[in-house]
Amino acid sequence: MSDSAAASTERAPAATLEVKDSRTGKAYTLPVMEAGVEGDQSIGGMDLRQVKVSEGDFGLMSYDPAFMNTASCKSAITFIDGDKGILRYRGYPIEQLAENATFLEVAWLLRHGELPTQTEYDEWSHQITYHTYVHENIRKFLEGFRYDAHPMSMLCSSVAALSSFYPRAKNIFDEDERNISISRLLAKMPTLAAFCYRHIKGLPFIYPDNDLSYTENFLSMVARMSEPKYEANPVFTRALEILFILHADHEQNCSANAVRAVGSSHVDPFSAVTAGIAALYGPLHGGANEQVLRMITEIGDTKNIPAFIEGVKSGKGSRLMGFGHRVYKSFDPRAQIVKKLADDVFRQVGMDKDLEIALELERIALSDDYFRERKLYPNVDFYTGLIYRSMAFPTDFFTVLFAVARTAGWLAQWEEMLLDKEQKIARPRQIYIGKGERPYQSRLTERFPQSRKDAVSK
Ligand code: CMC
Repeated sequence: MSDSAAASTERAPAATLEVKDSRTGKAYTLPVMEAGVEGDQSIGGMDLRQVKVSEGDFGLMSYDPAFMNTASCKSAITFIDGDKGILRYRGYPIEQLAENATFLEVAWLLRHGELPTQTEYDEWSHQITYHTYVHENIRKFLEGFRYDAHPMSMLCSSVAALSSFYPRAKNIFDEDERNISISRLLAKMPTLAAFCYRHIKGLPFIYPDNDLSYTENFLSMVARMSEPKYEANPVFTRALEILFILHADHEQNCSANAVRAVGSSHVDPFSAVTAGIAALYGPLHGGANEQVLRMITEIGDTKNIPAFIEGVKSGKGSRLMGFGHRVYKSFDPRAQIVKKLADDVFRQVGMDKDLEIALELERIALSDDYFRERKLYPNVDFYTGLIYRSMAFPTDFFTVLFAVARTAGWLAQWEEMLLDKEQKIARPRQIYIGKGERPYQSRLTERFPQSRKDAVSK
């Protein structure tokens, strides 16, 4: 870890918060901490525990379902200002990284806090290239899935399975072991993703070609047929590189939170990343780009858009997928880059009916008061699905592409959590609203089901 984290370390209490408890008449002075380059202010959740009605009282808790206003960590990795539409990795604006960097450079930056020097980059690229192969048993494991298995289920299970191939990855406080696990995960993720693709397509698996760049090699493993050397379309290679950079991290989103929470039990990183993949699979998170395409297919024609929008607004239809964000309330800066990227890709492959529907949907939604009042704008997923589809990726596969890229962020978040002295095993409190104590009184008339008794007596 670099000491760029020092830029955001905590300062002395900025002020205090005076709290008066009307139940007891007692007053409390809670320190207001200020931290980070933006001077974010917070009170410590544990400071509330001193607020008690009586000596035996547990103390006051804060109630915050879905962490709407709770910071679970201090992080120096990614900065987002949702109102201004700003996204920066380690201080670098996402627009500049998308324009100029490579994905592997960004993966290094996320983890180490600084851009790599040439020597560091060469060694890092070599490491990632060197570890691209997976054990042949993983290949057999993938062959066990049905032809119509969702590739996210396959990816999730195969990353979990990888943990069993690297038992030393459990030594998470050994820096060398962390280094190799991180390289392995980043290197093998495209291989696993491509193997999932080939399996559902019924195509032979293509092994990594270590002469190629990260994204070219991935495209080769996905698309190569009988040609001895795969030559990727340069527009597609660059588009994929940019999409990987845009998806590499997004601070404390659902999947990063899952990786941190599971990793806080000190499990190995393969298992922690598996939790991230499972979280990403959900339609409200990484699954949204897949849902956008399904929604567009369901709309079917631009003339059906007004009725569809009415359904969204009345709550009778589905949500407008690819719109809205928990954090971005003006625009999603990634969506702007993706829209421009879509123009480049569609210039190459041509405009189609689905893109026309998407453009019209966006135009109508952006001029509608329902969406404007709720600050609902296109998010990164609105156009990524269309780009992926024009590159001939199946809809089911979109979230897998997201997962390959997000692995860089998950690993940076995981390691930051691990080395943070203030972190402990993640274990939220609850407010119990169930029954009070009551005596056990069985409602069964028989302890064993009749069918089992019949089977035994035969
Ligand atoms: N379509 C229609 N109405 C919406 C939408 C939408 N996509 N998103 C939010 N709303 C409405 C919602 O019904 C609510 O209205 P009201 O105040 O009348 O009850 C209001 O806007 C606030 O919604 P919320 O659910 O409280 O907002 P949230 O911050 O909890 O949800 C979200 C964020 C992304 C889950 C949500 O906007 C959504 O479901 N969007 C569609 C799915 C999607 O595109 N997800 C990808 C997110 S970007 C990728 C990533 O970073 O993971």
